[in-house]
Amino acid sequence: IWSEMPMGPPDPILGLTDAFNKDSDKRKVSLGVGAYRGDDGKPYILETVRKAEQLVISKNMNHEYAGIAGVPNFVKLSLEFAYGTDSQALKDKRVAGVQTLSGTGACRVVGELLGKFQGAKAGGGRPPIYVPNPTWGNHIPIFNNAGMEVRKYRYYDPKTVGLDFEGLIADVEQAPKGSAFLLHACAHNPTGVDPTLDQWRQISQAMKAQGHVVFFDCAYQGFASGDAEHDAAALRMFVADGHNVALGQSFAKNFGLYGERIGALSVVCADLEEAARVESQLKLVIRPMYSNPPVHGARLVSEILSDAALRAEWAGECRGMAERITAMRVALRESLEKRGSARDWSHITDQIGMFCYTGLTTEEVLKIRADRHVYFTGDGRISMAGLTSTNVDYVGESIFQVAG
Ligand code: LMR
Repeated sequence: IWSEMPMGPPDPILGLTDAFNKDSDKRKVSLGVGAYRGDDGKPYILETVRKAEQLVISKNMNHEYAGIAGVPNFVKLSLEFAYGTDSQALKDKRVAGVQTLSGTGACRVVGELLGKFQGAKAGGGRPPIYVPNPTWGNHIPIFNNAGMEVRKYRYYDPKTVGLDFEGLIADVEQAPKGSAFLLHACAHNPTGVDPTLDQWRQISQAMKAQGHVVFFDCAYQGFASGDAEHDAAALRMFVADGHNVALGQSFAKNFGLYGERIGALSVVCADLEEAARVESQLKLVIRPMYSNPPVHGARLVSEILSDAALRAEWAGECRGMAERITAMRVALRESLEKRGSARDWSHITDQIGMFCYTGLTTEEVLKIRADRHVYFTGDGRISMAGLTSTNVDYVGESIFQVAG
């Protein structure tokens, strides 16, 4: 059987890292995968994570299995982090929650759950999930593989390099009632274009009127604006509006815990009894998939979130990462403008989060890669976190040479 297997294509994001690693050109720059680098271009380990590691070691903990739902204290802290410590839904104990293999795992588990129950409700088949156009590339195979039919709703308008708000609302209104909708909670990947709070309010109302099932993918809380409360505003607004949302959380970017695969999935329910039923179904999805999650990342996040001083220090570090990215946005735009670029690059500084959606075509991206050894995804998305004060002008020059 093995001999019959065709070669699969490289992953559009992670495959770029492999290509970059193989490139021997000294000028090479990696702006593909969304992984934060310090201004020295090296992976950045948060000081608070270092401290948490020491705390975990000093506790001499064992390596027993976590339960299927993960480390309970981590799940509790994680939900408080997202919904807010004063969340009425949490006080009512009506939020089902499990630990997941980062945000990807949360998406897959909720996809399996919705695939099964939305599908059964519709009398069989693959139920739809509406994702923004464009969205994080991996969302599409995740939900396809989970048994759902991925449909796109209008989101990004290339003409304005901003949000297609009217298109979005129209698509929400036209989707069959009770459809599943995926929303990026903050720092939309790949566009860096987020609705304003007023637009979120209108999106919430439109979703409510249609009885849609909202799933928030939250991969950048604290990392987007530098303020974790602010980055949770849309999620908390929807919950306050009475949406019984599902939420996927990743601690990869905001805590710099990429390889620990630490995240959470939660579902706001009508009451405690419903939450118990939903949680039992989440466990039924997880157990045959990977049995139970790894514990180390959960312990690290728990140490930080449960200690007021450490948590305040973490908030400062997270803000520092967000600020460095903002500084790189300004520097990249300046680098293009000082060369007299004919294009309008204001969106570089208008967008938010880890990525800049440049508007460059795939052809331009490939030319920059071939000529200048600067690696970013074919859709023109640049990971701003890979820019440094040393390479930003080279990248600006590279884009200018090809795009003018
Ligand atoms: C990205 O979009 O680059 C990150 O979310 C990393 C990944 O897994 O694709």
